[in-house]
Amino acid sequence: PVLVVDFGAQYAQLIARRVREASVYSEIVPHTITAEEVAAKNPVGIVLSGGPSSVYEAGAPSLDEGILELGVPTLGICYGFQVMARQLGGEVAHTGLREYGATDARLTDAGGSLLGGQPDAQTVWMSHGDSVARAPEGFDVLASTESTPVAAFANDEKKFYGVQWHPEVKHSQHGQAVIENFLHRAAGIPADWNSGNVIAEQVERIREQIGSARVISALSGGVDSAVSTALVQRAVGDQLTAVFVDHGLLRAGERQQVEEDYVAATGVRLITVDAADTFLAALDGVSDPEQKRKIIGREFIRAFERAQADLIAEAREAGEPIRFLVQGTLYPDVVESGGGTGTANIKSHHNVGGLPEDLQFELVEPLRTLFKDEVRAIGRELGLPEAIVSRQPFPGPGLGIRIVGEVTRERLEILRAADAIARAELTAAGLDGEIWQCPVVLLADVRSVGVQGDGRTYGHPIVLRPVSSEDAMTADWTRLPYDVLAKISNRITNEVSEVNRVVLDVTSKPPGTIEWE
Ligand code: XMP
Repeated sequence: PVLVVDFGAQYAQLIARRVREASVYSEIVPHTITAEEVAAKNPVGIVLSGGPSSVYEAGAPSLDEGILELGVPTLGICYGFQVMARQLGGEVAHTGLREYGATDARLTDAGGSLLGGQPDAQTVWMSHGDSVARAPEGFDVLASTESTPVAAFANDEKKFYGVQWHPEVKHSQHGQAVIENFLHRAAGIPADWNSGNVIAEQVERIREQIGSARVISALSGGVDSAVSTALVQRAVGDQLTAVFVDHGLLRAGERQQVEEDYVAATGVRLITVDAADTFLAALDGVSDPEQKRKIIGREFIRAFERAQADLIAEAREAGEPIRFLVQGTLYPDVVESGGGTGTANIKSHHNVGGLPEDLQFELVEPLRTLFKDEVRAIGRELGLPEAIVSRQPFPGPGLGIRIVGEVTRERLEILRAADAIARAELTAAGLDGEIWQCPVVLLADVRSVGVQGDGRTYGHPIVLRPVSSEDAMTADWTRLPYDVLAKISNRITNEVSEVNRVVLDVTSKPPGTIEWE
């Protein structure tokens, strides 16, 4: 792999993704990693990330000096560039001159192998206080800015490179080219990491882990559980049983998508637990959002455990106990819980609203090394239905937290109809790629007066909540075209008789959350 050494800012994940976009497999490691640990991973390249510290601060993150003696091609970025300069005998100065944001850089020496072929003047994205004042001996200076004489350097013989700016950030004009030049041209790493290889490798690994045992998987209809289940199915076929809990809070068409399209694409053995009655009974009379969430979570676990108990009994009878459970844990979850290097300290992430805590199972997590967009690419390669692969986030508690007020069968019908119209029109307008998700919310306890035909109506409002976001932590409301909004409003008020008003939520997050409950 290419190792991305994390110096403690949010940049390491971005770098790791950019390396993979260049078709090279990357792994994130903490800056505390030792030279022996690095050597044990047999890296073909190392990228030192940026970080929030100054190399002068006491306790500033450092790098085991032995790492730069392993003979591995290395690219230092921002803080990583300065660490490299310092360790190799250059000079880092605390100039007091900060560069932040878009900055003009000028190439010197035609840019060398790292920047060669790029325009002499370009805009790069900076974020630093200290600067490299003098490059280490044997290094060529490849670029400078008004206040940073050494903004990039190279030592082709040792295959050491560095840039002061952030090539991983899209605001750096030729950022991806810097990363690709380092990987392919300077370090000579082939661009051969792709979905096909990942599938082959994971299938191999899963077979090794599971052997001839039985395994179960919870399918939610979401991307992660769909792809991880499909990978395991590809690896061990009928040793796998997938369990899908229909809690009655799904959107129109979701159950068929799993039961028909997904099964047709994968051939997985699927059990659907029909739990709508149980869920609705448990939710009867409840309108407090937190209580609804708790009830749905609890009922989900119960439904899953019932199915699990049946399967365990069946497997026991067949003399093939179930030992494994599939989970769709993604790489960011692993990295964020400090598990970048091994299996320790893993947070149990719940894709499906909460799985049993007392796991008597060993987990199978075939997506542990992957980012979301990679998971989608693999899903496509596995032939999963596009409707599942490109699905926008949908909360585990489903429509239960999109009805403000008590959840009843009738209200679910109303919301389901309105939601289906909104989704269909957004898709028809080609807007799915532009929005992160668009909750459709029924204000079940609110009524307003309207007029339709000759008559007065007294119906419920539907809220459209289209949002744009990178990670759901923050979001802004999406400026949808008026004609699309008009069409959605028109159709919902005409086709869903209980709804006589459609309103648009124009609140960012914060202060509003994406969901209404
Ligand atoms: P909020 O409403 O907190 O939502 O801004 C952030 C993102 O999380 C989704 N969400 C959930 N996903 N189980 C889930 O799997 C949940 O209980 C849940 N609640 C919110 C929400 O749709 C948005 O993408």
